[in-house]
Amino acid sequence: MAYRLDYDEPVPAVIQRLKREHLELRNKLLYIQEEAQNRDPKVAKSILESIKFEILRHAVEEEARLLRVIESEGGEKSRIALDITRYHRRVTEFLHDDLPVITQGSEMKARKGIQEFVTQLLIHNDMEEEVVFPLALQAYELQNARKR
Ligand SMILES: [Fe+2]
Ligand SMILES: [Fe+2]
Repeated sequence: MAYRLDYDEPVPAVIQRLKREHLELRNKLLYIQEEAQNRDPKVAKSILESIKFEILRHAVEEEARLLRVIESEGGEKSRIALDITRYHRRVTEFLHDDLPVITQGSEMKARKGIQEFVTQLLIHNDMEEEVVFPLALQAYELQNARKR
């Protein structure tokens, strides 16, 4: 899958947009979780499938725009950001491999699988806002200061 990314958009603007996307995603994820828990896990699955592309695109953009700027500064901060971003691999795996067959087993298993994914993704997004986004902003400002 190819994603068109705007590399001219400044990092602070990218961060603001990614934060907005987290907020929008949070509402959708909470709805999916509610559906998976108390109603039909098949409906939860299909809603999750309908937002698969936006979840993956968001992750690709974080790596391409934020991780890249943090990594160019190197060091311990880069390692911490990488540790958090590594979770994207699990997100991709779940959406590509697990989700399509999640309702093939017991209903209980489907409920549990979707709930776990949603819970972990919400925690991941919070960690990004607390750690990765500030680090990206810091690295971006450092690089700009050097250019001046
Ligand atoms: Fe992420
Ligand atoms: Fe994110």
